[in-house]
Amino acid sequence: MIVTLSSILQKARRGHYAVGAFNVNNLETIQAVMDAAEAERSPVILQTSEGAIAYAGMEELAALVHVAAKKSKRPVVFHLDHGKNFDLVMEAIESGWYTSVMFDGSALSFEENVAMTKKIVACAHKRKISVEAELGAIAGIEDFVSVSEKNAHLTNPEQARTFVAKTKCDALAIAIGTRHGAFKYEHESQLDFGRLKKISESVSVPLVLHGASGVPSHIKALCTKYGCEIASAKGVSDAHVKKAVSLGICKVNIDTDLRIAFDAGIRKFLHDKPEVIDPREILGPAKDLITKVVRQKMKMLGSSGKG
Ligand code: G3H
Ligand code: 13P
Ligand code: ZN
Repeated sequence: MIVTLSSILQKARRGHYAVGAFNVNNLETIQAVMDAAEAERSPVILQTSEGAIAYAGMEELAALVHVAAKKSKRPVVFHLDHGKNFDLVMEAIESGWYTSVMFDGSALSFEENVAMTKKIVACAHKRKISVEAELGAIAGIEDFVSVSEKNAHLTNPEQARTFVAKTKCDALAIAIGTRHGAFKYEHESQLDFGRLKKISESVSVPLVLHGASGVPSHIKALCTKYGCEIASAKGVSDAHVKKAVSLGICKVNIDTDLRIAFDAGIRKFLHDKPEVIDPREILGPAKDLITKVVRQKMKMLGSSGKG
């Protein structure tokens, strides 16, 4: 069943667990994530970035997600991830398909971010749609979500209090040392837990951790064995994600781990079975690997059995 972000994050906050938000771009990934949610009896957030919409179309992705959500008894949120383009965020709100949108004003000044987020919250709340906003800027270069090291900065707890009070956003994405993409750290992950604790004490809305992929070593090993050049990739450790959840993170964004699972599944299959040309066969193992990764995330975040 389709639900709003607020409804599942408020529950998660009270229950001291987090809900995974998984980036989806195609049918197979949507099916794989939903299979995991069913198997784990977990609430789930399916999110589409501006890049996903450019690739597959908003209406097309919405149709796939809504059919999957309708067939499922699990609470499913359909969320717009990193909406930077004001018109696109408004289109998502007015479409009636999304139950939640993120407005990413991290590249704007504090005042501009407040003003734009407020406008979006006013329109979204009229339609009972939740809004995630971002304060601070998370580093990392992806197709559509790209912040250089120079422009990245961590969230200020005092500013966070003012920002939430002024904008009335439903959830706040914060920067505490994670990055988008596969290459987050040279060695172990480093998160500013002191800052997270202060932000948690300053604001009353659920907090969101972006750039939270772990780059699991067995998936990385599989990718690299079959030719993918990600040997030096390093993600956030499960222990660090769990600690962040214990300090108030309620939504955890994962894209990279799904990408590398998809990549590993396809590379291995094509290597082992070079005679197969049927995409349905080729994509099967990739889908299964994504389901495994997502199930592990749901267990780790504590959302298994909560849907
Ligand atoms: O946070 C960003 C997501 O990983 C989306 O990446 O813009 O390449 O779809 P994308
Ligand atoms: P990862 O690149 O760590 O998977 O982060 C995804 C994300 O934050 C999507 O908004
Ligand atoms: Zn993100």
